[in-house]
Amino acid sequence: MRLRDCHNFHDFRKLARRRLPGPIFDYIDGAADDEVTHRRNTASFERCDLVPNVLRGVENIDMSVTVLGQKLAMPIYCSPTALQRLFHHTGERAVAAAAAKYGTMFGVSSLGTVSLEELRKAHDTPQVYQFYYHRDRSLNRTMMQRAKEAGVQVMMLTVDSITGGNRERDKRTGFSIPFRLTLAGMYQFGIKPAWGINYLTHERFKLPQLDQHVDMGSGALSISKYFTEMLDPSMNWDDVAEMVRLWNGQFCLKGVMSVADARRAVEIGCTGIVLSNHGGRQLDGSRAPFDQLAEIVDAVGDRIDVIMDGGIQRGTHVLKALSLGAKAVGVGRYYLYPLAAAGQAGVERALDLMRSELERGMKLMGCTAINQLSRENLRFR
Ligand code: LAC
Repeated sequence: MRLRDCHNFHDFRKLARRRLPGPIFDYIDGAADDEVTHRRNTASFERCDLVPNVLRGVENIDMSVTVLGQKLAMPIYCSPTALQRLFHHTGERAVAAAAAKYGTMFGVSSLGTVSLEELRKAHDTPQVYQFYYHRDRSLNRTMMQRAKEAGVQVMMLTVDSITGGNRERDKRTGFSIPFRLTLAGMYQFGIKPAWGINYLTHERFKLPQLDQHVDMGSGALSISKYFTEMLDPSMNWDDVAEMVRLWNGQFCLKGVMSVADARRAVEIGCTGIVLSNHGGRQLDGSRAPFDQLAEIVDAVGDRIDVIMDGGIQRGTHVLKALSLGAKAVGVGRYYLYPLAAAGQAGVERALDLMRSELERGMKLMGCTAINQLSRENLRFR
């Protein structure tokens, strides 16, 4: 199977599975507990049907949106995700270049493997900084200052990771950084030597957003340990209000799910919220963002940009979310499997397929611009 044989999310996932050592594939693919929320994120779109309009003259389609003050050529963006150079040696560089080519926004994680400054310099396309709030307050201030100086457009604070989710696949394989593999995990690396050669012959793996502050040499940092030991579980609305004041720009909370929290985000001056359950990787059993979207849009949609992520595999999923009132939609695994499968060419192919699906979907829906999508276009079963 080659890149040109990949026509959708499932094909990319299959190819990524072939290329990646099992523990790394499982880190991307896995979620918390029984992975119920992970499955439901996509399934939720199937409870809802599109009602198209016809004969509306659809030769020219404009898919652009403005969200968080940024003009995007299409209504999806690459959500920030951690550790991308583990998936392909080009990591964030490939994702940022592909996002820039398709005129959309990309995210850089606090746990990113390329520095936010390098990426900011390399492309003009808008950049989100995914922020984790650490126990060390001076580290938080330094990180924000760095992002401000680099010219990052959007601060995105993750609020659903106050402690590590129970990722049982990672426990079984021993996935951590540096690797502390179980025997089964080691075997999985052994049978994918191409990945290992690639990994060892390229620039050393780093976490440049954090490496001046976190000692990576002494022991393994598992994702769960990072969340639990380094992030501040006392973080509250007052702390975030202070961050919003300090940042003094586009500020978005990622991982808001309740109406009460959405209202609170408006009160403290956030400019956006992302409805998200972290791809089902944190609280299993939590509701799917798409199911929760209408409630939140009705409560705060006129005062703040409501965005969602989770489970997006198709252009029509995006069109459903936009019809309900989302301003844009984030994707994670949707571009990570292609990254793992083929680097920048993979991410470009995934974004290209998404763009075609969106354009085709809009034509078939009888819409020439995103603001023509509305709840009139949807029926829930
Ligand atoms: C994860 C974090 C790091 O879900 O975002 O693994």
